[in-house]
Amino acid sequence: MSALDFTQTSTARRVGDAERARILAAPGFGQHYTDFMAHARWTVESGWGGGEVLPFGPLQLSPAAAVLHYGQEIFEGLKAFRHADGSVWTFRPEANGERLQRSARRLALPELPVPDFLASLRALVAADEPWVPEATSEESLYLRPFMFASEEFLGVRASHTVDYYVIASPAGPYFPRGVQPLVVWITDEYARAGAGGTGAAKCGGNYASSLLGKNEAAENGADEVLFLDSETHTSIDELSGMNVFAITRDGRLLTPALTGSILEGVTRLSILQLARDRGLEVSEQRLVMSEVLEQLGSGEITEMFACGTAAVINPIGEFRARGGSWTVGDAGSGETTLALRKELTDIQYGRIPDRHGWMTRLV
Ligand SMILES: Cc1ncc(COP(=O)(O)O)c(C=O)c1O
Repeated sequence: MSALDFTQTSTARRVGDAERARILAAPGFGQHYTDFMAHARWTVESGWGGGEVLPFGPLQLSPAAAVLHYGQEIFEGLKAFRHADGSVWTFRPEANGERLQRSARRLALPELPVPDFLASLRALVAADEPWVPEATSEESLYLRPFMFASEEFLGVRASHTVDYYVIASPAGPYFPRGVQPLVVWITDEYARAGAGGTGAAKCGGNYASSLLGKNEAAENGADEVLFLDSETHTSIDELSGMNVFAITRDGRLLTPALTGSILEGVTRLSILQLARDRGLEVSEQRLVMSEVLEQLGSGEITEMFACGTAAVINPIGEFRARGGSWTVGDAGSGETTLALRKELTDIQYGRIPDRHGWMTRLV
């Protein structure tokens, strides 16, 4: 049972039907926002309270709010999908709710109970239902829950006031080119996480520290940056916002083990299951970058892909680094990669049975 009811406390001035239809025709990613947002507040004295749905709009924050100085902030990302009968569903939201709790523990933020997390999603999507794209598209409503230290206090300690919001943004393809093989830059300069750090938490600081690596990737004509482990700079961690997989010629699916420095992706977890279901041998292990590059050359690794909620599954076509470039397979989109992508999206859009019980109806 949810303790917070997230009632709608006022009505927004809704975006008009014609304007919303224009936005939904080509939403891009993270560029447009809906009419409402969900909110709750935690205080050290009273715990969680005040669940409500408000018009989307600017926040009032003290310039001394702790988050602006010490980055005590976490977030989540998941999607709402329209099915052919008009109903609206989301994918494994409990996993996101539990990850938000783990991130909260690491960042000394209060844990939002999972039933309250689910209630916030339900309430927001009910209010913003016209913003969920039609079932005929590969589009969705991206949901962004986040939580931050809002106490007006400059001492360095865990904040005594914390605000939680959920905003929503209609989403098309994450990469402007759509599902095309990615060029991935291997940075030898930057790392995103170290032992004992925050790599396994979904906190804003991890993304801030990835941005120079992303700039370096862009300067080298790549779409994304790959981070190696910070200690030895030899094994694959992940991309700035996606987990990484390799498929071998003999039908094994390989992905870096969870060492505490990579994010435990919900897509990653689901792909491991779907791959087992189709008889692939799966292995979570240390993936040494130099060995992977050799195995790309010898043809032992035939496909690689990146995965996450936003981009779903995206083939990797090429790696670049200061020392050269390496093609993955024929630089196209691998057959198994595309089959896994299709199966996952077919489950999410309700086109095939949800045999693992991953979908939760929101509206
Ligand atoms: C750093 C990082 N790794 C991996 C992922 C993939 O996680 P998920 O599949 O839960 O979206 C994300 C995106 O959320 C991410 O930001």
